[in-house]
Amino acid sequence: MAIRKIREEGDEILSKKSREVEKVDERIQELIDDMLETMYKANGVGLAAVQVGVLKQVIVIDIEEEEHDPVILINPKIIKEKGKQEVEEGCLSFPNKFAKVIRPAEITVEALDRNGEPFKIKAKELMAQAISHEIDHLNGIVFVDKIIPGTLEYVKPESK
Ligand code: NI
Repeated sequence: MAIRKIREEGDEILSKKSREVEKVDERIQELIDDMLETMYKANGVGLAAVQVGVLKQVIVIDIEEEEHDPVILINPKIIKEKGKQEVEEGCLSFPNKFAKVIRPAEITVEALDRNGEPFKIKAKELMAQAISHEIDHLNGIVFVDKIIPGTLEYVKPESK
């Protein structure tokens, strides 16, 4: 496994659309492992492959603080969204920005897991927020595109 460089604000790849993964092979699994390592090192709860410079529809999410219990979504498709939640949000590609955005309160998604097996996930609250945020990345949309006006806060980046 290896830490990959996280692409940050100003990098035009962040506004590009990711392509579907045709075959979940060893290279994709290596990408997933690297993304997990990169996300944990940066203390993030989610990461899309585009954020490490790979335009493939691969997402890793882990909202657990204690034990690692990641969810891997390959080629995710939103089947259903329900309700709305106004939430505080940040993104590893915008390390000094936080703002409020509107996310679905519940989301149901179909995707492939890390072995290429199809599954369905229904999520609410923080998990629904994270899935919505990461699927946006696959479509070239970042959270600063949908900030509720007046809620943007700048925070000094942590020294690394
Ligand atoms: Ni993000």
